[in-house]
Amino acid sequence: MKWLPKISLLAAMTTALACAPVAFATGAHAATTRYEAESAPAMCDGVVASNHSGYSGNGFCDTVNAVGSAAQFTVSAPAAGTATLTVRYANGTTANRPADVSVNGTTVRSGLGFEGTGAWNTWATRSLTVQLNAGTTTVRLTATTAGGLGNIDHVEVATGGGGDGSPTDPNIRLVGRWDTRDSGAYVPGWAGAYLTTGFTGTTVKLRQRNTIDLYYSIDGRPDVYLQNVRGTVDLTPAPLAAGTHTLRVSYRVVAGSYRGDAVFQGLVLDPGARTVPAEPSRGTVEFVGDSITVGTTSSKNALTAYGWLVGEQLGLDHTQVAQGGACLVSTADGCVGLDRRFVKVSAADGAADHDFTRYRADVVVINLGTNDAGHGVSTTQFQSSYTELLRTVRARYPRAAILALETFRGRFVPQTQAAVRTLNDAGDRDVFFVDTDGWVPANGLTDAVHPNDAGHRAIAARLAPIVAAHLPPGPAPTSASTSSGTSGACGTAPDSPALDDAGCVLG
Ligand code: GCU
Repeated sequence: MKWLPKISLLAAMTTALACAPVAFATGAHAATTRYEAESAPAMCDGVVASNHSGYSGNGFCDTVNAVGSAAQFTVSAPAAGTATLTVRYANGTTANRPADVSVNGTTVRSGLGFEGTGAWNTWATRSLTVQLNAGTTTVRLTATTAGGLGNIDHVEVATGGGGDGSPTDPNIRLVGRWDTRDSGAYVPGWAGAYLTTGFTGTTVKLRQRNTIDLYYSIDGRPDVYLQNVRGTVDLTPAPLAAGTHTLRVSYRVVAGSYRGDAVFQGLVLDPGARTVPAEPSRGTVEFVGDSITVGTTSSKNALTAYGWLVGEQLGLDHTQVAQGGACLVSTADGCVGLDRRFVKVSAADGAADHDFTRYRADVVVINLGTNDAGHGVSTTQFQSSYTELLRTVRARYPRAAILALETFRGRFVPQTQAAVRTLNDAGDRDVFFVDTDGWVPANGLTDAVHPNDAGHRAIAARLAPIVAAHLPPGPAPTSASTSSGTSGACGTAPDSPALDDAGCVLG
């Protein structure tokens, strides 16, 4: 829709009888109800259209391309409280079409992003947490840019799904590798694992089994560092304003092992308060490496490492499957080799296999080879192990883009390239060698090997656009885009390079 000059309430006029809200039972007290954008009492500043397939109900709201164009929904809840609102939309352009979200006339979120989904018939979802009244509440999405809104299909409102803060609470998102075999004590593995959740009330406490150092962030504020805490740890010495808040907790790593007893045993909330789902992220990026990827010698270790920075910058879930001193190759003299241990839940000897159904990485970044020379690994061995690791990663993440970084010290570069090339030649064109020459500035190192905070920031600045270019389109990492399509082409991004003599190369 490009120009419709006036605001019309077409939904009410054309499809008033079409469909009532659809309710789904999702648990003992939880319920999800769908409200179609084309059905009264929804209102659409534009036209109700059905010219792009894949919508639910009878069509979707195609708003006027203008700042201020809106789609409005009237939603119901049995009781006042927190709800998760999920908007289904399509945006066939490459430009974001942000919206201000208001609830009963009050803006609760400015500029919520509705990124391109790749095509007008590719639908994606965007979620946020809102407070609803008992009875009806008006939710309005108002375009903030000249494109208007994306095409809006429906909203789903999930209420009553609050959790109790226990480790098994599904609202608590465990990001990275976690050992969840003991339902009363969840243990993060590798580096940079974290948990994130929403919660209601004014206070939150963390149950820790034994002494630990940790970082936590409430409502996106800078991380607070707590050392040597144990038992029930108060994260809100000054109570918060009543309402819905977010929490992220990450344990401090030193050289890739958690310092102390990194065992999460749940949250303690105000009486009657509940957790609410953490907002879904746009996707997941996994970093595989050694102490450089752990962030060793940077000020907050994993939290100031390039991988964490890239993930945060792009709004992605991020993991660091990394350990200080790790090699690519598992060597006889005991170097922890990611060739074998990538599939494990932690770096510990004898660790269990990681459950790869818990998340799927959309992009995997490998930075390995810096330590292998010190363990006598030959170039031949390195190349075959790298090839094996690439195949292992591919088997676990069939749709991920895999980025093999040139190690910053330039170790085993031809072998890394050759391994990438082997997969490219076998038809897997979503594996890339990334040239990192010049990424670490002269003042970017703590010692001969490890980037300092400035070094990690510089690396992240180079890497973030590359990772971003290899995410699936749209905020929901669900659309199926595979690599090995067009002969001669690498990857799926519009500006991806051609396969040439060096294979698929970036940077
Ligand atoms: C195209 C598309 C519409 C969309 C419009 C827009 O015309 O077919 O469905 O709404 O672009 O830019 O908003």
